[in-house]
Amino acid sequence: MTTSVRYERQGQVGVITVDNPPVNALSQHVRQGLLDCLAQGLADDEARALVMVGAGRTFIAGADIREFGKPLADPDLNGVIEAYENATKPVVAAIHGTALGGGLEVALGCHYRVAVAAAKVGLPEVKLGILPGAGGTQRLPRVAGVEAAIDMITTGKFVPAGKALKLGIVDAIVDELVPGAVAFAEKLLAENAPLRRVRDMDEKVKAFDPARFEAMRKAVVKAARGQMSPVGCFDSVTASVTLPFEDGLKREREIFTGLIESDQSKALRHIFFAEREALKIPDVPSDTPTLPIRTAAIIGAGTMGGGIAMCFANAGIPVKLLEMTREALDRGLGIIGGNYANTVAKGRLTQEAMDKRMGLIEGVLDYDALSEADIIIEAVFEEMDIKKKVFAALDSVAKAGAILASNTSTLDVDEIAASTSRPEFVIGTHFFSPANVMPLLELVRGAKTSNQVIATSMKLARTIAKVPVLVGNCDGFVGNRMLEPYGQQAELMLLEGAMPAQVDGVMQRWGLAMGPFTMGDMAGLDVGWRIRKRRAATRRNDLFWPTVADQICEMGRFGQKTKAGYYLYEGGSRVPVTDPKIEQLIVEASKAAGIERREISDEEILKRCLYALINEGAKCLEEGMAIRASDVDVIYCFGYGFPAWRGGPMFQADLIGLDKVLADIKRFHAALDDRWKPAKLIETLVAEGRSFADYDRGR
Ligand code: 3HC
Ligand code: NAI
Repeated sequence: MTTSVRYERQGQVGVITVDNPPVNALSQHVRQGLLDCLAQGLADDEARALVMVGAGRTFIAGADIREFGKPLADPDLNGVIEAYENATKPVVAAIHGTALGGGLEVALGCHYRVAVAAAKVGLPEVKLGILPGAGGTQRLPRVAGVEAAIDMITTGKFVPAGKALKLGIVDAIVDELVPGAVAFAEKLLAENAPLRRVRDMDEKVKAFDPARFEAMRKAVVKAARGQMSPVGCFDSVTASVTLPFEDGLKREREIFTGLIESDQSKALRHIFFAEREALKIPDVPSDTPTLPIRTAAIIGAGTMGGGIAMCFANAGIPVKLLEMTREALDRGLGIIGGNYANTVAKGRLTQEAMDKRMGLIEGVLDYDALSEADIIIEAVFEEMDIKKKVFAALDSVAKAGAILASNTSTLDVDEIAASTSRPEFVIGTHFFSPANVMPLLELVRGAKTSNQVIATSMKLARTIAKVPVLVGNCDGFVGNRMLEPYGQQAELMLLEGAMPAQVDGVMQRWGLAMGPFTMGDMAGLDVGWRIRKRRAATRRNDLFWPTVADQICEMGRFGQKTKAGYYLYEGGSRVPVTDPKIEQLIVEASKAAGIERREISDEEILKRCLYALINEGAKCLEEGMAIRASDVDVIYCFGYGFPAWRGGPMFQADLIGLDKVLADIKRFHAALDDRWKPAKLIETLVAEGRSFADYDRGR
């Protein structure tokens, strides 16, 4: 008998408790324990009903993802669920925290379900590149209806207990978990309630018209953009309507088996663990004391400052927003108000919540107003002199122990810190645009940044719903540094024969949210232009530097915000339209550079863009600017629209084979220029027959 599941009796109700910290995942010993305790409960003559509950912070959060990819050990989860469904005494699942994936599937195998009001349920398997493989695609539609099941299963979204009650997923909300569930079970006994098996509940699936599937499937395929699991999830749910229950389960299993072995699922599992691994900093112990962050302040109410202020307000933290002039401040506050109003109009926020959030943001014009802030984040123009002046001013007003952070996207955090008397309290907090939407937060560690400031910033990032990754202090840090060679390859290929729409099309079809030129137009071409001007004095003279981007900026075309960049955005549209003028400019630029244009294959475009990221990512690793290869993947997937189902650039390198990647990099090095000098780390790993994953494990 395992200790991770235990049985005890409360009066006439037997209580089965799953106790497998931290999230009660369904590891082999839990599956076995569930069977053993069920047998015990059924054999216990004094027990007339059973309750299943999770110990600690949550009900069961799903299958044990660490067991994926290994041979499945008995008993299998479907068998466990079937045993509960076939039980001859009523079984009630008592849900708190989250009932996710296999956890919800186990609950759906029980005859009844109750939950505390704060609980959530969901089938998030799609986000791991699989589908609910223990009957979830067959049982959820039978309780919640086909449409709701498709929505939940193809998106993986969590549903709060109140909504789950309305949908029929849970039968009652209870105030206290175990007492409430036991009382519910006693009521079932008193009422002689039937053993209600979800497999037999056919009403909702029979009521659904299968003719609707075709149009619904098209929408799922479109939204999936190449990801297989949402489509697999959809197809499996349709079987709940078109096939008898047992055949539906078989269909679910077939699709599940195909998905779990796919590279996409491996990639998504990699990102799941990578995101959590990034929270661990080798030389900053997890018990490092943190500073309390109760109030915040932001300097600069522009694009980034406004978005960052929203992140704090959304988390309920009061924030002061400082600007140079009343006019700039009003403009910034107006944009924030407009953003919230849009969310309200879309029905995703109540007016009351908006008012509360706006009430937490206070515009100020005087540095003295910042003296009580626990963290102050500077988001002024990307000019070192201005940043230094701001930090000197902050040094004189900020209270002792306040964190002084810069949102710089490229500048030297140590140089900024040196303009204060307390560099140990200075850190880079590099948000991504739009800051209130993009999940990534690159935290830039200066030479003197204290462990306490790092630990506090990591924790704060989670509080404001960001995914933090700690990186080193170099030009562009990790994300933007890697973007540089990527963008350069894209630019060079324009001169060699490609057009923006071809390059963007290849990268988008491969899965990126946007190709390099569409992304440049969205972010603002002037940003890169300013950076290039700053770097011009120090860049290598022996390399050829393309000028198309500069020429476009010189025409006053900065992208979407000026309605023209690489593309045209007529009437304020965000849809890029090819501009023959730019195509002509590119052809002329090739001529001026003496380059004979040639056909560039889609394969070359993909390789040169992707391998430029990989090579620079490896350089970031060998210089210690990134802690792990998986951190680089988190940065790209959460900050740059790299598809999580591709796992990030470093995961891709391992998947392709580092030796093959190196061979191509060497080929480019010989045929193109010294930008392609292979990273030493890649050469070493290939020589040792190791991958980036091996590097992470052995580091
Ligand atoms: N299997 C194995 N480990 C898991 C796990 C799981 N299902 N879920 C979480 N963990 C681990 C995490 O890796 C982390 O480990 P670490 O401390 O060593 O880094 C630890 O548990 C705590 O997790 P979080 O930091 O994520 O804790 P939170 O409290 O922030 O979040 C949670 C809790 C909402 C449950 C979140 O962990 C989560 O979303 N987990 C995954 C849920 C999921 O996807 N379930 C479906 C699994 S697939 C399945 O069930 C297949 C079935 O259909 C057959
Ligand atoms: P922005 O030009 O939209 O906003 C800057 C704001 O700072 C302006 O409102 C300006 O009035 C104000 N400001 C300038 N000097 C000031 C001072 N001394 N005191 C108070 N306010 C002052 O610029 P944006 O895009 O918001 O960028 C801000 C910072 O964030 C820069 O360092 C930039 O590199 C960085 N960043 C920008 C990203 C982007 O996509 N725009 C992404 C990530 C970082």
